[in-house]
Amino acid sequence: MKYVIRGNKPLYGDVKISGFKNAAASILPGLILVNGVCRIENVPDIDDVRLTFQIMKKLGAKIRSIATDIVEADSTGISCLSVPYELGCLMRASHFFLGSLLGRFGQAAVPLPGGCDLGTRPIDQHLKGFEAMGAKVQVKDGFVYASVPHGSRLKGANIRFDMVTVGATMNLMLAATLADGITVLENAAKEPHIVDLAAFLNAMGGDVQGAGTNLIKIRGVRSLHGGTYSLIPDQIEAGTYMAAVAAAGGEVRLTNVIPRHLDCISSKLREMNVEILESESSILVRRLGSLRPADIVTMPYPGFPTDMQPQMASVLCLAEGTSQITEAIWEDRFRYAKELCRMGARITVNGRQAVIHGVPKLTGANVTACDLRAGAAMIIAGLAAEGITEVGEIHYIERGYQNLTEKLAGLGADIRMEQ
Ligand code: EPZ
Repeated sequence: MKYVIRGNKPLYGDVKISGFKNAAASILPGLILVNGVCRIENVPDIDDVRLTFQIMKKLGAKIRSIATDIVEADSTGISCLSVPYELGCLMRASHFFLGSLLGRFGQAAVPLPGGCDLGTRPIDQHLKGFEAMGAKVQVKDGFVYASVPHGSRLKGANIRFDMVTVGATMNLMLAATLADGITVLENAAKEPHIVDLAAFLNAMGGDVQGAGTNLIKIRGVRSLHGGTYSLIPDQIEAGTYMAAVAAAGGEVRLTNVIPRHLDCISSKLREMNVEILESESSILVRRLGSLRPADIVTMPYPGFPTDMQPQMASVLCLAEGTSQITEAIWEDRFRYAKELCRMGARITVNGRQAVIHGVPKLTGANVTACDLRAGAAMIIAGLAAEGITEVGEIHYIERGYQNLTEKLAGLGADIRMEQ
């Protein structure tokens, strides 16, 4: 499958942002901790979420769809503590089943995670944390096996991460929620989805304090009860539409957003001559005139999100002047640059830095989505480019963007999916 885009058309109208993929990534596996029925709202309808529910069903959970974005999950009858290889290896977030299965049942087997190829993606900090809590951890035959002695629970521990890691912070929060005693996570990540995971766990009877700071304290409880929880909106999906308006021009209102989660993206776009007007749960994005260049350095939250770096690069290709992007999180996140160059972009990559010399226009070409956000960058470039752009390998994009073609077509874009 591919997306075919006839570009050079400004975008106008309203678009509703879906629930946050990366919050769903840990909160849905977190449902395994709950001995009861949970109703989760604002769930994004994307491939990664469908895969997560498939895994949960294999483990013995009952999943019922109430509406497109509302799901009911009952984890009382979990009978299998091993994530099937053929499902778990397909996405990164499968490693969160380690924290939740180990936390509730004291035992888990999960395939080493897949996901976007952004360079090496070790999970040593996750495993180090489980071990500090008393688990025996073994990596064998493509699986991680973790267990505590029969009849016992994980034990609260002080864990200091060697680097700021979103995934390990969330995995240890899951594991510590039903542990015996208090767990303290130092040098914790502060992303909005970490605060969201803490709010979910607390809504179900957990005791997590300090999420959103670099010190998180989790007092283990005996069990979690059912309840209702609504996921936060997807700041990266919102940022992607903001970048699309910046590149293609026009005026678009994004609804179902939390503007303060977008502060970093908004201020960078303002620097580039894009107007952003915020209200309580929506923002208006309007491209004012020609784009100004800007420098970006990706950082853990509240710094500029690495997951918006490729999309911003597409916008900067069209700025009047030279911009520089420094990628501080991932070792190999510029593979999309050569694809943009096929469309007439002028980008030089040197290690973790890219220098972008703005060009007056991009032209349509056949390009490939190297990963999820790289794919979003291709679409943004295609929307702004003259002529037709075909984007291949779109399974990466379908993993993380709900109804992308429908949402963009609703803003007047000429985009369709083809065989
Ligand atoms: C999450 O990945 C997101 N994925 C990524 O988004 C995002 O880019 C990243 O956080 C940073 O914000 C999901 O939520 C599913 P990390 P994660 O642990 O948790 C190193 C997207 O496009 N590290 O914060 O895997 C690691 O190599 C995806 O939506 C270790 O060395 O990221 C990296 O350099 C792509 N050992 C840095 O830390 C570890 O045990 C940050 O990784 C863990 C991480």
